[in-house]
Amino acid sequence: MANYDLLLLPGDGIGPEVMGEVEGVVDWLNGQTQNSFNVETALVGGAAIDADGVPVTDETMDKAMQADAIVLGAVGGPKWDGVAFDIRPEAGLLRLRKDLDLFANLRPAICYPALADASSLKRELVEGLDIMIVRELTGGTYFGEPKEITEQGEGHKRAVDTTVYTTPEIERIVRVACDLARKRGKKVHSAEKRNVMHTGVLWNEVADRIFKEEYSDLECHHILADNCAMQLIRNPKQFDVLVTDNLFGDMLSDEAAMMTGSLGMLPSASLGAEEAGTRKSLYEPVHGSAPDITGKGLANPIATIASFGMSLRYSFDMGDAADIVDTAIANVLESGLRTADIMQDGMKQVSTKDMGAAIRAEMGKLAA
Ligand code: IPM
Ligand code: MG
Repeated sequence: MANYDLLLLPGDGIGPEVMGEVEGVVDWLNGQTQNSFNVETALVGGAAIDADGVPVTDETMDKAMQADAIVLGAVGGPKWDGVAFDIRPEAGLLRLRKDLDLFANLRPAICYPALADASSLKRELVEGLDIMIVRELTGGTYFGEPKEITEQGEGHKRAVDTTVYTTPEIERIVRVACDLARKRGKKVHSAEKRNVMHTGVLWNEVADRIFKEEYSDLECHHILADNCAMQLIRNPKQFDVLVTDNLFGDMLSDEAAMMTGSLGMLPSASLGAEEAGTRKSLYEPVHGSAPDITGKGLANPIATIASFGMSLRYSFDMGDAADIVDTAIANVLESGLRTADIMQDGMKQVSTKDMGAAIRAEMGKLAA
């Protein structure tokens, strides 16, 4: 019996709506399992800018450091388009990732059988799809210095982003990917641009050494990131675990998400290094704040509920409860309920709240 501290950061746009359904799942679990969750909620992104002038306060960062896990909704929206770059909503999320050293971002793209026809690819290409994208999350182009826009005179400016990777940064993310592959399909693809970028050359070299020295039991491949984008569309099921840098991972994971039917379906886990049996962790849906549908009850809560499900697996050693969450989602989809983003002919469209309630009801049946 354990008592865990869970920090919820609903954020902006549809974030609070989808997080409401996670709270429902947490309440349900508190009544069911031996473990209990203390839930605290704080602001991040535009909501924090409005209240405190910064996209995440030091106080919230302290809570994030102390929490056993964090679940985040979404950040950003047109309302904050005018704010200074350094304090834009996304900077709050990036600070959480960086300061908590959440270097390993796991983005599983699973195509539920019931949704195979909602994908923009043909059913036979995506049915049964189960890819794990492992995105490096605290280095590369997102954080490299210098990162600036300078005045050049005559009305011209010069913008610089720097892509930096070191050997240890590449080693640790490749190991995370390989360890996952060992528990899955035993296959890893490492995607980089070794034909153009120095970071790609180093990435390739380090990944290759780790593959050969430590994971000779796995089938390991190198793939150019652009070819990888093409292969994902051509034949996605050739992939099992895909490890890549921060920027390529951002793009490839959006691409993979759409194969599952909707961006509203994809959860993610961002994990820190394991120390003394624990690791910092933040769970968030891959989708954004979707300002166009905010407040209308149209948002799909599945990615966020599934993200909380990942926390049960990766942070709380509650694999059985995580299985219940995943199976409940699959069964509810099988029963024909759909939010607007995955609506198809002959199915029943339901609201965010109704989808959350249906998943909880199904969890109840599965646990009985
Ligand atoms: C993601 C998002 C973020 C990113 C944004 C919101 C900063 O697109 O998690 O993929 O670019 O990493
Ligand atoms: Mg993204």
